[in-house]
Amino acid sequence: KVPYVVSGKSFTAVAINCAAKAGEWIKSKLGMYKELNTKYSPHDLVTEVDKGAEQMIRKLIHTHFPDHAFLGEEGVEPGPAASAEAVESVKDAEYVWIVDPIDGTTNFVHGFPFYSVSIALAHHGEVIVGVIYDPSRDELFVAEKGKGAYVHGKRMSVSHETSLADSLVGTGLPADRDFALPLNLMSIQAVAPHVRNIRTAGSAALHMAYVAAGRLSGFWEIGLNAWDLAAGSLLITESGGTLTDIHGNPYHLAVRHPVASNGRIHNELLATLKASGAAQSV
Ligand code: IPD
Ligand code: CA
Ligand code: CA
Ligand code: CA
Repeated sequence: KVPYVVSGKSFTAVAINCAAKAGEWIKSKLGMYKELNTKYSPHDLVTEVDKGAEQMIRKLIHTHFPDHAFLGEEGVEPGPAASAEAVESVKDAEYVWIVDPIDGTTNFVHGFPFYSVSIALAHHGEVIVGVIYDPSRDELFVAEKGKGAYVHGKRMSVSHETSLADSLVGTGLPADRDFALPLNLMSIQAVAPHVRNIRTAGSAALHMAYVAAGRLSGFWEIGLNAWDLAAGSLLITESGGTLTDIHGNPYHLAVRHPVASNGRIHNELLATLKASGAAQSV
């Protein structure tokens, strides 16, 4: 039984309803997909559950807000060029919903219970609602612009660590093995000796939610997309954290190489990534 299904037609209520409904359905299919296909690379997986969940979310959103634009991962041709083009085409829309129906498809396929539904609403390019739902733990992360970020209805704030040495941080191993993976490996090699430890749990959106909740002090990854980051971006800023690209520039919808943190370790993390040589390649 999924709680948090609120009534009403506010943007946030609709986002929560979508995430809860899709999440419950996805969970019922964990490890039980029927069709497994690959997209941009042999490591880039998609199932009929990814597509079905996106369809469910899109339909529900358009029932309430038929004029709003919609950007969902499974509606975009695979690969960085098509993704960049898709983001470009919606980034200035009055309202656009940015959706990753399953963030962590590889985990979903293997029955590893760490994946999420990520739903954001942007207004003229600025994220105003961010919802990330983790069906495995029944955890709902919600942020509204200017109103804070919440998990289980409880206000979240980022961690207090002031140095990498005391920090648990997250990153990912992207499906793009030719370009993004080698750079991420370079960055991991540079960061690992300086931090308490690194987690690569397989859902960028949940890693971002964990930074917002103070469970991780930082997160970075090279080669992500708008749907991996949009909802998490608001969770981070509304919980007092900092989010930039890998060069330290402010976040916007087209950012693909994010660095998120509790703010206190941000410069040290950026400097370490710079010293790794990975940042200069993107
Ligand atoms: C992936 C996950 C993973 C990250 C990959 C993403 P998907 O998203 O967020 O943690 O390392 O780069 O593509 O494909 O499972 O939605
Ligand atoms: Ca994917
Ligand atoms: Ca994703
Ligand atoms: Ca996905």
